[in-house]
Amino acid sequence: MSLPKDNKDSIPEPTKGLEGIVAADTTLSSVNGEKGILRYCGYNIDDLAFSTTFEETICLLYDNELPNKERLDEMTKNIGEARVLPKEVIEIITELVGKTSPMSTLRTVVSVLGHYEKNVPLKELPPKALRLVGQIATAVAMIHRSRENLPIIEADPTKGHAEDFLKMLHGTDSSKTQVNALNLYLILLADHGFNASTFSARVTAGTLANLHSAITSAVGTLSGPLHGGANEKAMDMIIEVGTKKKASDYIQNAFDTKQKIMGFGHRVYKVDDARKPHLKKMAKKIWEEKNDMKLFEVSEEIEKQVKDRKAIITNVDFYSAPLLYGLDIPTDLFTPLFAMSRIAGWTAHVLEQYRNNRLIRPRARYVGQIDRTFRPIEQR
Ligand code: CMC
Repeated sequence: MSLPKDNKDSIPEPTKGLEGIVAADTTLSSVNGEKGILRYCGYNIDDLAFSTTFEETICLLYDNELPNKERLDEMTKNIGEARVLPKEVIEIITELVGKTSPMSTLRTVVSVLGHYEKNVPLKELPPKALRLVGQIATAVAMIHRSRENLPIIEADPTKGHAEDFLKMLHGTDSSKTQVNALNLYLILLADHGFNASTFSARVTAGTLANLHSAITSAVGTLSGPLHGGANEKAMDMIIEVGTKKKASDYIQNAFDTKQKIMGFGHRVYKVDDARKPHLKKMAKKIWEEKNDMKLFEVSEEIEKQVKDRKAIITNVDFYSAPLLYGLDIPTDLFTPLFAMSRIAGWTAHVLEQYRNNRLIRPRARYVGQIDRTFRPIEQR
């Protein structure tokens, strides 16, 4: 690109999409994209996936340690008690549903929830952050029940987060497999280095804006189809393909017309996403319990057809889709459910940013014209 001389001399070449740029240190999670390993605070998610609960993951991210029984009970109780929304927020949800997407409603709810919180010093911030972890789940369930004109189900703080969310959403008890599946999903998506939404939360926190402003930024960032919005689009594709034999033509057409196939590709992973095998295994289990393997088999066939054509990795959003759909969750709630998990990581990152803050402020390279001659409005 030819640049004005004075710019060219002083500004280095930008890195498009900040690829490969390390923006800060973190002790929360590490992603080894070459080997496909994700660790939370040093623990491989392969060890956490089927042997812990979402509440344990929250303890790990907040304390940097796995909890003992006492700490876990305290966390489960605190999150349970936090699954309550102020009456006025419920009214706002009722007012917004049907007029905008669940994800936009959720973003507004997070912003509004900030009005019910006091400014507190940093050492008192974790309980406030945890409240938001609980509240987001209730908001997602209420958004759904409100638009379906179904009675609101109050939270039961004695239940685990995954189990109670499914109850608040569906109004009925879920099977053990279903609760385990949601737990697994919430554990696996809780944190992932400097993904776009986490980074946006840290940028906002880096200005010393408050917690709810940072999380509102994150929810907005997550909504895009290149990030959290991909799970919904992946499910739309699986449903549209509908049968195994249609997958080949569908994928060929997507490549021929240069469309991005949702649930594939990743900035960091060079081999399949560390979370994929666990999500795939659990999605299969859920559909086996339903005795209906059709959509799961379509998913597998789409994966095969993509890989036959291009060396492209399967990311977290692909098998999240049949897993969530198998839990009877409507597709437009998929990204809000992503937020319901990632809120654990977002809030932990905001706390980490505040503890060792420096304003995040990169530069832009100006590539427009310079030294233009000003003309008054009458002469333009
Ligand atoms: N379908 C088809 N081709 C793809 C895809 C895809 N999903 N992803 C990447 N490619 C190709 C892309 O066309 C390019 O090919 P070429 O070098 O021949 O031009 C190459 O792979 C590199 O792609 P890129 O878009 O430059 O890679 P990126 O690092 O900028 O983008 C991504 C990463 C995740 C945005 C991208 O892979 C994508 O758009 N995937 C689909 C959306 C998606 O599934 N997003 C969820 C991401 S993981 C969870 C999360 O963060 O929320």
